[in-house]
Amino acid sequence: MNPAALERTQTTLRIAPLSATTGAECTGVDLAQLKEGEWERLVEAYHQSSLLVVRDQKLAKDAQIAFSERFGELELPIRKDYVGKDFAALHVVSNIGADGKPNNTKGLENPGNFFWHTDASYMKRPASTTLLYAIEIPASGGDTNFANMHAAYDALPAAMQQRIASLRAVHSWEQSRHNSGSRPASEEEKLQAPPVAHPLVRTHPETGRKGLYLGNHTSHIEGMDVDEGRALLQQLLAHATQPQFVYRHKWQPGDIVIWDNRSLLHKASDDFDMNNCARVLHRTVVQGTVPQ
Ligand SMILES: [Fe+2]
Repeated sequence: MNPAALERTQTTLRIAPLSATTGAECTGVDLAQLKEGEWERLVEAYHQSSLLVVRDQKLAKDAQIAFSERFGELELPIRKDYVGKDFAALHVVSNIGADGKPNNTKGLENPGNFFWHTDASYMKRPASTTLLYAIEIPASGGDTNFANMHAAYDALPAAMQQRIASLRAVHSWEQSRHNSGSRPASEEEKLQAPPVAHPLVRTHPETGRKGLYLGNHTSHIEGMDVDEGRALLQQLLAHATQPQFVYRHKWQPGDIVIWDNRSLLHKASDDFDMNNCARVLHRTVVQGTVPQ
């Protein structure tokens, strides 16, 4: 093979761990044009670390959608106003108003993002993977935090692991809106996402690892007194989001962060100047399987 052709096919992908439990940083790769063997290495790192930070990407919307579809069928948002205008499966996360300027009303319209959650857990088949691509990022603040639910489960006392082994948590879009102080769910939204129960301890369908499955979308524990169930969920959430289980991602423009909702909780930080600094990201979500 001549040197120019070899350069086109030889990978320069580098993968390095980001924290003790969570995340791998990937450099020297173009997700719009993967070379031989790169997809397999990315998937292996994704399963090992539950989160990939791929640096320096230049992805058009259709290229992000095409790459996301390698993980499975994409999900459309429940919120009708979130459905992308040109690409239905790509939602623009933004604090830019109709006048083209940043404002905090737009930035705060979905306060649920600032609470620990796993995407779309109020659905029968919740999201497996979320891909978030940074277009514009404030100079400071606006980080996204990720908490590793496998590490949190492994660190629970054996008696607690036993106590929660067969419990099921009810997840509810309506309750989630209430929990985060958002505008109440509309009748149409409630019909589209009625409450659903999932195992509190979930087994990852690809890796077989056990992890807690809870967060802001949970309402109560099936078959348990509501207050008692909520107290247990709060106790487990407080345990699971301790610093030793958390990776905090400081965004750079061009980052695409790919995370596994079956393994991680996440929440955005609202600690940036929303009235003056733009924060714009492109989000695609992959539909998963029924949690087991
Ligand atoms: Fe989310």
